[in-house]
Amino acid sequence: MLSLRVNRKVFSVDVEPETPLLWVIRDTIGLTGTKFGCGIGLCGACTVHVNGKRVRSCATRVSQAVGQEITTIEGLGGTHAVQEAWREGDVPDCGYCQSGQIMAAAALLAKIANPTDADINREITNLCRCGTYSRMRKAIHRAAELARKQ
Ligand code: FES
Ligand code: FES
Repeated sequence: MLSLRVNRKVFSVDVEPETPLLWVIRDTIGLTGTKFGCGIGLCGACTVHVNGKRVRSCATRVSQAVGQEITTIEGLGGTHAVQEAWREGDVPDCGYCQSGQIMAAAALLAKIANPTDADINREITNLCRCGTYSRMRKAIHRAAELARKQ
């Protein structure tokens, strides 16, 4: 049995230590906002925060997350500046990649309060098959503005 702290709650999970964190978040704990895309750490659909830093949960063993603070899209609460900016900019298309994109953007703003386009290009490497990149870039700049006012 492993003990995991997710979105400020403690969960006891009966899984093998090498199980991908993504499976545990979705299938064991039941938080399905985090998505499965490639399963090999490339697309970013599975992005969560571990101690505030973006992590690809498909490529992270659950044992690596024990004792850490894990945050999923559900833990952002719906009123995070990135979520406000995403709504304002009507960013998603199909939506599949978007929880991962929002988590990556939130981690970026926690690290760099006013990111440049170059910072965004370097830090946000998540893929979007619908090509929402320009709306996301605009929304990240807007989220930085909103966060300054909060
Ligand atoms: S599903 Fe994890 S990076 Fe693609
Ligand atoms: S909004 Fe469809 S994959 Fe990104």
